[in-house]
Amino acid sequence: MTLSAPSFAVEHHAAPLAASERDALLENPGFGRLFTDHMAMVRWSTEQGWHDAQIRPRGPIQMDPASSVLHYAQEIFEGLKAYRTDDGGVTLFRAAANAQRFRDSAMRMAMPELPDDLFLGSIRELVAIDRDWIPSIEGGSLYLRPFMIASEVFLGVKPSAEYLYMVIASPAGAYFKGGAPSITVWISDGYTRAAPGGTGAAKCGGNYAASLPAQAEAIAEGCDQVVFLDAVERRFVEELGGMNTFFVFDDGSIQTPPLTGTILPGITRDSILTLARDEGLAVREQPYAIDQWEADAKSGRLRESFACGTAAVVTPIGRVRGRATDFSIGNGGPGTLTNRLRERLVAIQRGQAADPHGWVERIL
Ligand code: PLP
Ligand code: COI
Repeated sequence: MTLSAPSFAVEHHAAPLAASERDALLENPGFGRLFTDHMAMVRWSTEQGWHDAQIRPRGPIQMDPASSVLHYAQEIFEGLKAYRTDDGGVTLFRAAANAQRFRDSAMRMAMPELPDDLFLGSIRELVAIDRDWIPSIEGGSLYLRPFMIASEVFLGVKPSAEYLYMVIASPAGAYFKGGAPSITVWISDGYTRAAPGGTGAAKCGGNYAASLPAQAEAIAEGCDQVVFLDAVERRFVEELGGMNTFFVFDDGSIQTPPLTGTILPGITRDSILTLARDEGLAVREQPYAIDQWEADAKSGRLRESFACGTAAVVTPIGRVRGRATDFSIGNGGPGTLTNRLRERLVAIQRGQAADPHGWVERIL
């Protein structure tokens, strides 16, 4: 039977972590290193379509060494957060947009599209069973990581005939260590992230694998994140390893690189664009050259820059470095507009402000 509506079989963890231990961990969750007691799982096969939807205790999965994901990296993922509201409820932010992007990524990687109600159902069910894992510290959330892997046991190079979709959940605090007030980014001149016609707009694991030497170079240079330039002219700013970028000018306008297929269409990016337009700001989705970034920062025409994404929320970029580049932006710390946009976004996400675009769904 092909599942269309969510109907998850639930197996509760026999020995979930004791509340006192869990709550101690949630005081300082960091990012991506703690996991909740359960996980969601749905299988797909050519014969059966989507089937066998389960919520079960989180644990290792068995895989045949010939599973095609282990060889040809047919894998996609998503990242979204569940938030605890002041009155003890739980919300999701624009989860339907993640469901849509997951289907877009699936299409790009020749994988079956997961119906939105299964995507959303898996998340709602997992958050419901593990709701006590949502940190209540300032800025805390439950980071949800849906992903899909090719599980057919076959070494031929072709789309897999079987897939495994899963969701794991990870309590999260700040993405950058110490909740950095601003980050320093490193311009990669040797590596690019995605070329026209490639997989840059898909959230597939391979994009991140290929970004790792560039990110490692950034860290070795004492920077926080790598900035990728376009693969054709090696001139235009594309995005960071795991975030989109914005530029704020002295006339109050803001700019971000356009969605031409080589960068990830960030949901935070889209939300920031919408909030900026709501405020009446002039907004441009246009290419921005690295030499222009430097010239504008030095002349003062550029006032602020920031990175944005689900994990990083909105993070100011204070300094830009590269082999032949080193410049600061504004006073090197968070700018006024960056702060305002971040606060507006976070207030909506946490149910503390009106939600005119219907982005927030209360699930518990
Ligand atoms: N760009 C890349 C490469 C990312 O990994 C992410 C994070 O998901 C983003 C941009 C921001 O996307 P979103 O705002 O949907 O999290
Ligand atoms: C996210 O923000 O959800 C991402 O996937 C980015 C990654 C660097 C954690």
